[in-house]
Amino acid sequence: MTTPRQLRIAPSILSADFAKLGEEVRAIEAAGCDLVHFDVMDNHYVPNLTIGPLVCEAIRPHVSIPIDVHLMVEPVDSIIPLFAKAGANIITFHPEASKHVDRSLSMIRELGCKAGLVLNPATPVDWLDHVMDKVDMILLMSVNPGFGGQKFIPSTLAKLKQVRARIDAHMAAGGQEIWLEVDGGVKADNIGEIVRAGADTCVAGSAVFGAPDVGGGYKGIMQTLRKNAA
Ligand code: DX5
Ligand code: ZN
Repeated sequence: MTTPRQLRIAPSILSADFAKLGEEVRAIEAAGCDLVHFDVMDNHYVPNLTIGPLVCEAIRPHVSIPIDVHLMVEPVDSIIPLFAKAGANIITFHPEASKHVDRSLSMIRELGCKAGLVLNPATPVDWLDHVMDKVDMILLMSVNPGFGGQKFIPSTLAKLKQVRARIDAHMAAGGQEIWLEVDGGVKADNIGEIVRAGADTCVAGSAVFGAPDVGGGYKGIMQTLRKNAA
């Protein structure tokens, strides 16, 4: 059940140098990362404020890999079309931040993007009960959302196993493919157990952009993450 499947690494640009974002995303694509993880915070759902659709549109021409937009905003529906228009490929949101979760998920797909739900460390997996056919990604937060550079919460490992079993059962019954992403505190020394617990897509912010050798270091970091996950 937990043999490593195709692993995707999604560096979070939250820890990148915002003064040279185009260069930063080009560097991570060249280093072999699979997705750009794009953290959107609104100083309402989370106590921090980051970037919006304009920045998504600005980086879009710099990379060909998918942009994975993680919405930490409330409400979600009004901002979804703006990100779809700005070139997002995947849009995930926190279900408790939407009044109509099924509608928000459908809207994302209707706009041509992959849709996903994000569960905080204390958010129950029951939120998935009636929408398994509507999600392309499930993102489990392994820190409380709002900031990069926090410590991985170990109870996420049990939750990953639980959600992996649900996804495997869903796919075995003929359901669509669903990616299982984990976000927060992923480092070279814990990515192995995270992947063994069932994750196939790992966000890594400070582990990638916070590295001392920023200039040419991304490839090495990406390789170290992959090697430790194998
Ligand atoms: C936290 C964000 C994460 C964060 C990850 O709210 O959603 O994507 O930037 O950063 P690290 O990998 O440093 O924990
Ligand atoms: Zn994130």
